[in-house]
Amino acid sequence: MLPLLARQLAEAQDRLPQAVFDYYAGGAGEEISLDEAESAWQRYRLLPHVLRDVAAVDTGCELLGHRYATPFGIAPMATQQLLHPDGELATARASAAAGGPFVLSTRSSHTLEDVGAAVGGPWWFQVYVTRDRSITEGLVGRALAAGATALVLTGDTPFLGRRKRAGRPAALSADASMINIARHIRPGADPDIAAEQDPSITPDTISWLAGISGVPVLVKGVLRGDDARACVDAGAAGVIVSNHGGRQLDRAVPSAAALPHVISALADRNAEVLVDGGIRSGVDALVALAMGARGVLLGRPFAWGLLAGGQDGVAATFAALADDLRLAAALVGARSLAALDPTLVAPSR
Ligand code: FNR
Ligand code: LAC
Repeated sequence: MLPLLARQLAEAQDRLPQAVFDYYAGGAGEEISLDEAESAWQRYRLLPHVLRDVAAVDTGCELLGHRYATPFGIAPMATQQLLHPDGELATARASAAAGGPFVLSTRSSHTLEDVGAAVGGPWWFQVYVTRDRSITEGLVGRALAAGATALVLTGDTPFLGRRKRAGRPAALSADASMINIARHIRPGADPDIAAEQDPSITPDTISWLAGISGVPVLVKGVLRGDDARACVDAGAAGVIVSNHGGRQLDRAVPSAAALPHVISALADRNAEVLVDGGIRSGVDALVALAMGARGVLLGRPFAWGLLAGGQDGVAATFAALADDLRLAAALVGARSLAALDPTLVAPSR
């Protein structure tokens, strides 16, 4: 973990009420997947090139047809106002300034309209498909009107995982996480049930979402090559390899271990692959990008950055990551991310 990220984490542990820290930091079950997420990246080794003229290194990338200045993106995380009053507005603005992809959670604590205005450019809306489909349709329509350019369908959460630490902090009242959803609930319906994820969704949901939105759909939470192919064949523009930060199925494989399988399963498909979970440095990101990921998302490090200093705190997290990636790319002999390839990565022990 980069020193700045470690300092921001320590500050979060000191400053946050225990229940809020636990909600953000915690994982499911015995937290085995949570514990393995970071070390799984550290198991890979690199085989650097020498004498490659790395005087200038460009770490820009292209995702879904849009050019980004950095491959680091902010993963969707619920109710960021628990960390800072500016919440998602601050992460959105810092992301736009850094030039990375921004994914807004369905459970955002600021309105889609305010967050869209804060980004001022392309952003992606994370979708939990609700039992009452009209809620999802309403949210997607508003997200598109607010500038969303892609949807991220979370596939690993038919039910919320059993979290080891205290469930939901009291501060996470219905109001904070329902700000976007509440107005779409039919009069008389029980909000908790109406807004619950529909556990019966299948790959058909991908084409349904693509059809109602007209924008690319990425499926998040994919850990298997066969699933990745099934998603793309059902109309997904790509997948996000993820085990939800260890918060869903405990003992799910680390995304670092799943990534190469997904990449090879999609080798003959035209699909974007991103990855999240346990990425804590530019070197971690370099391993993922060399394996074939097109972008990397981080969750908790940006949460701790947000707590530490609002938009400036998140900007500092971005700067540390970008700087580390630029140096790592130079040291493996890559002038651009396009120059990275799997021969740079030695198999994990
Ligand atoms: C999440 N994550 C998540 N994912 C999602 O699809 N929708 C959501 O609303 C949330 N909410 C959420 C809240 C909190 C507090 C955390 C920590 C995570 C999962 C997130 O997008 C991502 O997959 C992981 O956080 C990535 O792992 P790291 O970088 O946190 O290790
Ligand atoms: C979580 C849900 C909201 O991980 O995705 O807490």
